[in-house]
Amino acid sequence: MADPTRMTVPRFAALKDQGRKITMLTAYDYTMAGLLDAAGIEGILVGDSMSMVVQGHDTTLPVTLDEMIYHAEMVGRAVRQALVVVDMPFPSHHLGNYRAIESAGRILKETNCQAVKLEGGADQAGVIEALVTAGIPVMAHVGLRPQNIRQLGGYKVQRDKPQLMRDAKAAQQAGAFSIVLECIPEDIAAAITGELAIPTIGIGAGAGCDGQVLVTNDLLGLTSGYVPRFVKKYADLQTTISEAVTQYRDEVREGTFPTKEQTYKS
Ligand code: KIV
Repeated sequence: MADPTRMTVPRFAALKDQGRKITMLTAYDYTMAGLLDAAGIEGILVGDSMSMVVQGHDTTLPVTLDEMIYHAEMVGRAVRQALVVVDMPFPSHHLGNYRAIESAGRILKETNCQAVKLEGGADQAGVIEALVTAGIPVMAHVGLRPQNIRQLGGYKVQRDKPQLMRDAKAAQQAGAFSIVLECIPEDIAAAITGELAIPTIGIGAGAGCDGQVLVTNDLLGLTSGYVPRFVKKYADLQTTISEAVTQYRDEVREGTFPTKEQTYKS
């Protein structure tokens, strides 16, 4: 029996009309997904950012469909309430509609996740329409598209308002149930949000979007090196982990761990 309180694609899309700001975060494993779900986050994204924050690559390009599915399975097993969306990795949605349906179909069949996300707007309208026709819910992603990094030459704010508006409208027209807006000036993102019937989820796109998404590792202060300006660090887990591990190391070396409390008697 379906859980009547579980977030579904139609319920997620309806949050816009209810005027409720939508929260979304990334997760790549069972433990983190369970924590985000228990905190009441409405959308959990198994993002291809996994390529960078989990696998240690410089870009999102290397992660494979099999790897996305492996991690989406873990996330899908943990989540009871949130909508779980899985990124289509590069170049799985550029290989024709048949192969896009095959890849997105594997995501839905092999994981307990409910939707896919793909980077693209007007240029991907045909693929979005084909997926939606096949019964696969699609979240589009316009503005900065990290999978285009080789063409862009860097992660840059996207300012071409007519093109961004065209992309967002084309994605909606093609059947997307929601759109991520990445790295767009806040006035442009707000204008797009005002024009669309489906919810916009911003990342570096200001407060005028219907919801917000961040990479969880960035929010928790787990990312080393550069973090984009749009990130707010809500915790400093790097320091917390480093202090805990250092204390453990010292106590083992000094012989003060384990104590009687952590030891069995015969
Ligand atoms: O892969 C990802 O984590 C994303 C978000 C940054 C939106 O696409």
